[in-house]
Amino acid sequence: KHSRDQMIIDAGQKHFGAVICKSCGMIYTAASLEDEAQHIQHHERFLEGLRYVGWKNERVVAEFWDGKIVLILPNDPKYAVKKAEDVREIVDNELGFKQVSLGCPAKTKTYLFVSNEKMIVGCLVAESIKQAFRVLSEPGAVPSPSQDALQHHRAWRCSTEPEPCICGISRIWVFSLKRRKGIARHMVDVVRSTFMYGCCLSTDEIAFSDPTPDGKLFATRYCQT
Ligand code: ACO
Ligand code: ZN
Repeated sequence: KHSRDQMIIDAGQKHFGAVICKSCGMIYTAASLEDEAQHIQHHERFLEGLRYVGWKNERVVAEFWDGKIVLILPNDPKYAVKKAEDVREIVDNELGFKQVSLGCPAKTKTYLFVSNEKMIVGCLVAESIKQAFRVLSEPGAVPSPSQDALQHHRAWRCSTEPEPCICGISRIWVFSLKRRKGIARHMVDVVRSTFMYGCCLSTDEIAFSDPTPDGKLFATRYCQT
């Protein structure tokens, strides 16, 4: 049932014979039945979870040529909150977060980037926080990007001095095939202008919690630190 639309990954890559699905982004070995089966399962679940149907009174907080950002708040109708939860589950799964609960569900704001094709290609979960610990830079210690979440080096050295903060970004994710197009940047810009009513947060007033290597590279660039 899944699309047979695939691309062969450039030769010279580690996984020879691997293909990447152009719709769900999964990399797998087409020649392996087991991999194929796994792909089909992932494909359906992923695309269904990220399909965006929309609802009456959806809160569109920004519009771009390639999509829009919809904000979901904890007291929104059940179907909206359910969609936010479903997407968060997919994101957590990809980030390798296992049953990480939200600090305070009642204070959580979920921002979804919806493409013109009605697919959710970005998700950002923001929470109110009072303080944060700055990640200290380690010159020369930038880990190489890796596909394997287990290999992710996540133990950044942090300062022991808490700094006042307003908004904690507990998750930020962009669909693998839509990265490096400014979607994460758009989402953080929108959080800064909409998180607190009537004011725009500076980059010092937002904090990325427990960033992955990708997250750290993005945050460093975004905050120009
Ligand atoms: N490597 C180097 N620089 C990067 C990277 C990267 N992987 N990602 C972003 N940047 C920098 C670049 O300077 C980029 O500008 P450029 O493309 O003009 O050079 C700038 O940040 C802006 O990047 P965006 O295009 O806005 O970022 P994108 O939409 O690709 O999303 C994200 C970045 C969310 C980190 C994405 O790579 C992703 O979803 N990764 C997997 C999930 C993940 O690790 N999320 C972070 C978890 S940490 C947390 O949730 C708090
Ligand atoms: Zn697929």
